[in-house]
Amino acid sequence: MIGKKMEDALNKQVNAEFYSEFLYLSMSADFASKTFDGFAQWFKVQAEEENSHAMKFYKHIIERGGKVRLAEIAAPKLSWKTPLEAAEDAYAHEQKVTAMINKLVETAQEEKDYAALEMLQWFVKEQVEEEANSSKMTEQLKMIGESVGGIFQIDHILGKRKNG
Ligand code: FEO
Repeated sequence: MIGKKMEDALNKQVNAEFYSEFLYLSMSADFASKTFDGFAQWFKVQAEEENSHAMKFYKHIIERGGKVRLAEIAAPKLSWKTPLEAAEDAYAHEQKVTAMINKLVETAQEEKDYAALEMLQWFVKEQVEEEANSSKMTEQLKMIGESVGGIFQIDHILGKRKNG
């Protein structure tokens, strides 16, 4: 049975992961409206991944006999001036999520919740990848600067991303 403190903390993370889904879906929609179809595809797949993160926490709470409490999800930003601005926002967001996951690990340690600690290890590893992806996109976009050809080349590569 999960303790109240851990249950509350994991419920907050369910909300945060759904917010991440909204944020990336909003980026995807914005890119699609600007005919950056590759960026739109990449962020749509990213949004789907965030949904699966939320559901991992959701499943864990239920399996441990806890109560899932879904709450209001904040509205994300709707528009980004450039692909670089979106990539920088994504990277900054993932750094925040990493800090949240680390905090959850600390709470699980304090609560001696070994089941939560075990589940959270997956997220600790996942955040390394999440930060690396958005950081790489940011660096590549910085390198190509204003080059339209370069941006369309990245758009083409990003469009190959598939779910799973
Ligand atoms: Fe669920 Fe992008 O971290």
